[in-house]
Amino acid sequence: MMEEVTEKYFKYEQIPIEIKEEMKEKVSRSPFRQSFHVEAPSGYLNDPNGFSFYNGKIHLFYQWTPFKYSEANIWYQGWHHLVSEDLICWESLGPGVEPDTDYETHGSYSGSGLSVDGELLLFYTGNTRNELSQRIPYQIIATLDTEGKITKRDFPEITGVPDGYTDHFRDPKIWQTDTGDFYALIGIQRQNKTGAALMVHSSNTYNWEILSEVKTNLIEFGYMWECPDYFELEGQGIFIFSPQGLTPEGPNYQNIYQTGYLIGDKLSKDNLYLNEKSSFKELDQGFDFYAPQSTQLPDGRRIVIGWMGLPESVYPTENFGYCGCLTMPRELTLVDGDLIQKPIEEIKNYRKNQKEFSQADLSSGIETEAAFELMIQTNNSSNSDFVLDLCCNKEYTEYTRIEYISDKKELWLDRKFSGTPFATEFGTRRLLAEDLGEEIHLDIFIDTSSIEIFIDHGKTVASSRIFPTTDSRHVFFVGKEETLCKIDYWNIDV
Ligand code: FRU
Repeated sequence: MMEEVTEKYFKYEQIPIEIKEEMKEKVSRSPFRQSFHVEAPSGYLNDPNGFSFYNGKIHLFYQWTPFKYSEANIWYQGWHHLVSEDLICWESLGPGVEPDTDYETHGSYSGSGLSVDGELLLFYTGNTRNELSQRIPYQIIATLDTEGKITKRDFPEITGVPDGYTDHFRDPKIWQTDTGDFYALIGIQRQNKTGAALMVHSSNTYNWEILSEVKTNLIEFGYMWECPDYFELEGQGIFIFSPQGLTPEGPNYQNIYQTGYLIGDKLSKDNLYLNEKSSFKELDQGFDFYAPQSTQLPDGRRIVIGWMGLPESVYPTENFGYCGCLTMPRELTLVDGDLIQKPIEEIKNYRKNQKEFSQADLSSGIETEAAFELMIQTNNSSNSDFVLDLCCNKEYTEYTRIEYISDKKELWLDRKFSGTPFATEFGTRRLLAEDLGEEIHLDIFIDTSSIEIFIDHGKTVASSRIFPTTDSRHVFFVGKEETLCKIDYWNIDV
């Protein structure tokens, strides 16, 4: 992107108002804008950043390149700042971390947030390139105060790259332990072009010491690990990361890049061995999911939010001057060695017009709003094939299909006929779950141009973008009588 740029800006406020207006107008023409998912006002949104609780509010930032699709060919890449009281309604505070120092001339890249001594500490990567276009990464700390002012420290915490690694070194995720120690995991690429995560330590958020790589059983697992996240649940250490460069294996690793987790021992300066008991598991089975970040709320819940998108994919909204959205926030728990992800409780406050349909209603077709939740449960005695078509048009030529194949007990998602096609090189059909039990529970959220499916109370989740035409608002069920024992429908009104 940078090569073609005619104007480079370090502060959002310097960008001419006409260009902002041009972008606003372009975005306003989109038929794909969503109601309960975070989207950028214009331009490109990618990773969630700085997700944290501070000064009585939930703070969330995201990677933001607001003028990527402007005719004016402008470059500016930083963080966009949002706050919320309930994780559903977000107030936009505009630019957050801006690329305005010598240590981030080519972008204020991803990072995390932690409330420390009355300030929100933001630990992130400054991306730079020298005259020879060589990348030099800096790990930077800035603080947000109660007035909303962001102040950067005079010098980076870590400059360049330790020996044995390439210049791909980014995305610090910071946390603090009961002992008062501060740690961060930072994604890195080894000289031999394999991915890893480095653990760093500080006793006071200054003078960070590089400890070593987190030791896992994954010695050669992709060429780069982006956006590491770490937290503890039920006394276990949970390590989430986004490896690049895995080749598809059966139904796994079907997207361009992956995101998954390992569960093992707690990490600290005295233990860098995760010693995981099970293998890498993908966090989401959908077509569009990457670079999630988690935080813990004061009530103890661990919440994760991801980017419902992938690098290098082209999305139909780009014609309307923007691209990307975040997933719904999800509550994470650990059950029998697996991460369970549930839609956050707060979404229930936005359910409107509850309807209880019968299977016969669904078989003859129901009409929906653009944003809704549909929850269905199958009968334990009816192990038979079924199809649930969402976002169908009247001609039934457009639909997003969830299909259950009873003899294999498999659930599939098919977006071949969902509307405007995109990223079809990664296939249009995905196996979401196999070996399902007899009672299948699906909690499905549709928001104009996205679908998130929570299978069996969050054991499996699948997030995908879809781009149906505006009047594709029907749902049909095709299956044997008495397959469904419970159907609930709500509009989601945010
Ligand atoms: C992941 C990522 C991060 C980087 C950021 C830049 O999507 O590549 O590794 O910090 O995006 O926008």
